[in-house]
Amino acid sequence: MNFHFTDEQEMMRKMVRDFAQKEIAPFVERMENGEFPRKVLSKMAELGLMGITVPEKYGGSEMDFTSYIIAINELSKVSATIGVILSVHTSVGTNPILYFGTEEQKQTYIPKLASGEYLGAFCLTEPGAGSDAAGLKTKAVKNGYHYVLNGSKVFITNGGEADVYIVFARTNLNETGSKGISAFIVEKNTPGFIIGKDEHKMGLHGSRTVQITFEDAKVPVENLLGHEGEGFKVAMANLDVGRIGIAAQALGIAEAALEHSVEYAKGRFQFGKPIAAQQGVGFKLADMATSVEAARLLLYRAAFLRQHGLPCGKEASMAKLFASRTAVEVTTEAIQVYGGYGYTKDYPVERFFRDAKITEIYEGTSEIQRIVISKNL
Ligand code: CAA
Repeated sequence: MNFHFTDEQEMMRKMVRDFAQKEIAPFVERMENGEFPRKVLSKMAELGLMGITVPEKYGGSEMDFTSYIIAINELSKVSATIGVILSVHTSVGTNPILYFGTEEQKQTYIPKLASGEYLGAFCLTEPGAGSDAAGLKTKAVKNGYHYVLNGSKVFITNGGEADVYIVFARTNLNETGSKGISAFIVEKNTPGFIIGKDEHKMGLHGSRTVQITFEDAKVPVENLLGHEGEGFKVAMANLDVGRIGIAAQALGIAEAALEHSVEYAKGRFQFGKPIAAQQGVGFKLADMATSVEAARLLLYRAAFLRQHGLPCGKEASMAKLFASRTAVEVTTEAIQVYGGYGYTKDYPVERFFRDAKITEIYEGTSEIQRIVISKNL
């Protein structure tokens, strides 16, 4: 067993940590006010962060999967918004093309996604198909050189900002459930591709989440991703990997809440001594730190499996399930440590608390993670 990161992975952590402090921390307030962090993403692109695991031949940084997870984790300590934008762009925006695309599709899209010229997004969820993703109703009917898409998608992270969307639609209307679903690469400027309502969310204020409607949107046949009828597997396989990214984001939020709480508890005096030295608070911090450590181990174990090409669906779900619960619990306790100050916007813990909750919902709710885990047992 080896619990050490490699020198390259440590360098990645330091580089991203420094970047986050220098370039992201000053931007947090603007994101809280709803600004999409275009400027930050451009700087991340210069550092090669928009294509961390993409092979060099497609313009990426060709680093290992663990380095990517380290990057999401470090970014999320400062801004969970930046964490999710990068996670969605990479694991469900870029990877489906990388893993299931033709050489021509890879040549067309991957260099632009890896360089940050394009941002990626993923359109699976629909108003009537959330946890039951196979219940989606968007249709894609082949007509000559095009598929004509009709339907609606909701909760699309990066929606409206992204240039390329991995869209799931039903191509065989005689089949139900996971059969008969196909994946498509859809460009933002496709006629009939309509960006709808922006969601006003509890947290992640700088990340954009929109509804998208397809009204006779004509997608060229060469933009079918993978084989017709095999789209559900494209979605599920990429969500396995995506869930490790969300676990890294959740861990980052929890770590940040813990670090801030420890510092605050050392400097806040009540009853003649720091509150950290009062057992009620000290035990709280001990429990928070223990959960964070356990989440970290589950996360990097899932990342290790993924990196070595081993099956990781169950472990990815376990990591997401545990890290997201940890994020919610630790941020809740962080507010308790801060007391009344924690409930104000003068301190970052209330933002961590709001950002944490969604990690138990997107890329599969905690209940769905339990389904995946139990099916694997
Ligand atoms: N990899 C490859 N194939 C897989 C797979 C995987 N991980 N999981 C399932 N499949 C295949 C199965 O083998 C099966 O194929 P066959 O019929 O050929 O055997 C097929 O897919 C159907 O599998 P199931 O019967 O298990 O499918 P199901 O309908 O019961 O659904 C589920 C399973 C796990 C509940 C799934 O619907 C699910 O994950 N739901 C949650 C959806 C979700 O995570 N949405 C997130 C939206 S994206 C997002 O949130 C991004 C963001 O904004 C941050």
